[in-house]
Amino acid sequence: MTFTARHLLGIEHLHPVEITTLLDLADRYVDLNRSAQKHSDVLAGLTQINMFFESSTRTQASFELAGKRLGADVMNMAMAHSSLKKGETLIDTALTLNAMHPDLLVVRHPASGAVNLLAEKVNCAVLNAGDGRHEHPTQALLDALTIRRAKGRLHRLTVAICGDIAHSRVARSNLLLLGKMENRVRLIGPPTLMPAGVAEFGCEVFDDMRAGLEGADVVMMLRLQKERMDGGFIPSEREYYHRYGLDAEKLGYAKDDAIVMHPGPMNRGVEIDGTIADDINRSVIQEQVEMGVAVRMAAMDLLARNLRESRLKKALGGG
Ligand code: NCD
Repeated sequence: MTFTARHLLGIEHLHPVEITTLLDLADRYVDLNRSAQKHSDVLAGLTQINMFFESSTRTQASFELAGKRLGADVMNMAMAHSSLKKGETLIDTALTLNAMHPDLLVVRHPASGAVNLLAEKVNCAVLNAGDGRHEHPTQALLDALTIRRAKGRLHRLTVAICGDIAHSRVARSNLLLLGKMENRVRLIGPPTLMPAGVAEFGCEVFDDMRAGLEGADVVMMLRLQKERMDGGFIPSEREYYHRYGLDAEKLGYAKDDAIVMHPGPMNRGVEIDGTIADDINRSVIQEQVEMGVAVRMAAMDLLARNLRESRLKKALGGG
């Protein structure tokens, strides 16, 4: 077994071998998802609860589909209507759910670190579906699978991550994963949208798009995370698009076969030109969505194996 984690809380504590194991399994789930049958029973008998305290389209839908395709009983908690509105704390909500014996808990929360805290309180496997500006591990893994399939490898590539780096959990998880797999990462954006201490990340930082994109294999665009901004980080969206929006002219500085990525939701005309996003020769944005289902299937499959094994050990008195 080369994947030993109990939870999937972030990329930070994953070993490169665990990343490769997960991506290899996800490749097999891509094949399953493209077949007529699309069904397996590896999670049969297990209960998966999705708790999204922040809005989500792709991530929630793909976790739900992933669980259903693997035969789990899937429940979506409508957190906007939950007792949190009546003042119950996150931990009390988690303990209540824990008493219902879930096996897999998928959590998205606006506070960085909230999902780690919750994982300490429950007996099941927890998957982080995005916590504040901290981590979004399944997004980085689906991006990695998309890159590996498009480029034929996941090492020695030059990857430019562009835009609102400071507020982005997608950027953070990608930076960690791409670094572990020995790629060269460049961060591009206005200095106001670079995180404090960015120099320690061991990557190159640019505030000029053309210089940063020069020779890149992969161009990853990010949305301005306005919900995490408390003031004027950019002069105006028009000005931002002019300097940092990806259009054909700026993309021309990257390699001729560079791919364009975006985790969604996309703001056309702000961080990316609509025609680039729709260009099937350059954009892999739809592939990212497809890989998202497969990666989440792989992650839940591996965590469920570890969960079953640890329960068996406990039942046999082995700890
Ligand atoms: C991202 C997120 O929620 O962090 N979206 C996603 O999961 N696909 C990126 C974003 O919201 O901009």
